[in-house]
Amino acid sequence: MKRFRLRYADWSWREYAAIAACILRGRIAAGPDAGRLAQELNALYAPSAAHALDFGHSALRIALDAFRELEPGRKEVIVPGYICPSVVDTVRAAGLEPRAAEIGPDLNIDAAAVRSLLGPDTLAVVVPHMFGCPAAVGEFERMCRQAGVFMIDDAAQVVGERVEGRLLGSFGDAGIVSFAQSKAVVTGVRGSGGILLVNNPRLQDALARRCRGLAPARGRLGALADFLWNYQWRGVTGNSGYYLLRLGRLLGRARPVSGPMALISNLDAAIARVQLARLGHLCAEKKRVADAYRQALAALPSVSLPQHAPGRYLSRLMVALPPETDVAQFRKDLALAGVETRLGYANAVTPGRPDTPNVAAARRLIGLPYTGTLQNDAINKICSILTKCLLKQDLPASRNSTSHETHHTAHQR
Ligand SMILES: Cc1ncc(COP(=O)(O)O)c(C=O)c1O
Repeated sequence: MKRFRLRYADWSWREYAAIAACILRGRIAAGPDAGRLAQELNALYAPSAAHALDFGHSALRIALDAFRELEPGRKEVIVPGYICPSVVDTVRAAGLEPRAAEIGPDLNIDAAAVRSLLGPDTLAVVVPHMFGCPAAVGEFERMCRQAGVFMIDDAAQVVGERVEGRLLGSFGDAGIVSFAQSKAVVTGVRGSGGILLVNNPRLQDALARRCRGLAPARGRLGALADFLWNYQWRGVTGNSGYYLLRLGRLLGRARPVSGPMALISNLDAAIARVQLARLGHLCAEKKRVADAYRQALAALPSVSLPQHAPGRYLSRLMVALPPETDVAQFRKDLALAGVETRLGYANAVTPGRPDTPNVAAARRLIGLPYTGTLQNDAINKICSILTKCLLKQDLPASRNSTSHETHHTAHQR
C-alpha cells in the first residue's frame, strides 16, 4: 500500500552537501556561514536589523525582556487563544502574564478581541501568522502604536511573503522567525535557528546588545541526527527513534534539555542559507500544492480549508471536517488507508478556561501531507481516501458549518 507521510522539510541534495561541507571542515558551532547568513538576512529584511539565533522563542524572549526594561510597570502580553506552547511558556518565563485573545476562523488573532483586552497593564501584543496565513498586521501595528504598547510580528512560520508591500515579520517593534520543522525555512529541530528582527530603530541598541552577549549553539550534530532519524528519514527509520530514546533513558543517557539562549550554529546557518536561496521555488511549490488540494476538495463540500486562498503560501495544510466527525476515529481510518495526519496545538493559554468556539474548531482541524514535491495524482488519491473515510462515518456531503468558510480579506493577499 502506498503511504502518504507528513513531511517536515523540503530538502534537496544541496542542504545535505552544506551539512557535509560543515562536518568535513569541522565548522559545526562557529564558522563563516553564520556571518554570511546574518548579512543575507539583513539584506532581505532591511531596514529592519536581523539577528540569527537558536530558536524563534529566544527572539521573543529578548524582545520581551527589552520591552519590560522600558515599561517595568506593565505585565500583560496579549497572545492568540490558539498558539504554539513555546510562545506562552516564553511569556511566562519572562515573568509576564499571557492573556488570550479570540481568534478568527482563519486561526489568526482577532483585532476586535485584542482591542477589548488592551489596558494600562498591557506591555505587548504578539501577532502570529498562523501556519503562514497572514494576519492583519498593518491594522495591529496602527492599533498598538495608538495604544502605546509594543507589538511583535510573529512570522515564525513564514519567510518572504508580503502584506501591504512589506515582508511579514517586519511590522511592529520586533519580529520573530523560526527555522524549526514545518516552517518556511527548515534547518532541523531543538534549536536549529530563529531570527530576531528589530523593526523599531529606537530598540536597535538595546536588542543588539542582548544578542551580542550570546555564544553559538552547541550540540548541533546530535540535534541534526535526531532530525534526520525522527523526521526526514522516518519513512525508512519508522518509530525506531522512539525506542532508541527509551533505551537511552534506561541507560541513563537522556537527551539534553535545551541550554541557555544562543546564536545560530554555523551548521544550521549553512542549511538556512541553502533554504533561503531555494525559498522562491519552495514557496511556489507549496502554493501549487495548496491550490491543487483546494481543487481536489471542491468535490467534497463538507470539507474546507479555512486558511487557504488561491495563491496563498501556507506552511501547513489544515482541513476542517464536518462538525459531527469523530476526528480521532477519522484519523485512525486515514492512517489505516496510508494517509498520515496531525492535529495543531492542544495547549490552553489559560489552563482550566474552556475553549472559545473558534479555538475549539481549530483543535479539530487535521493537517494533511503537504510538501512541495507532492504531485496532483497523489493529492487526488489522498482526497479520494478522505472521501471514503468520511463516507465510512456516514457524514453529510454538504457543508453545514459557517465557522470554517474561507475568508479572503484584503490584508491577507
Ligand atoms: C507561531 C509561532 N511562534 C513562535 C514559535 C517558536 O519558534 P521556536 O520553536 O523556533 O522557538 C513557533 C514554533 O512553532 C510558532 O509556531
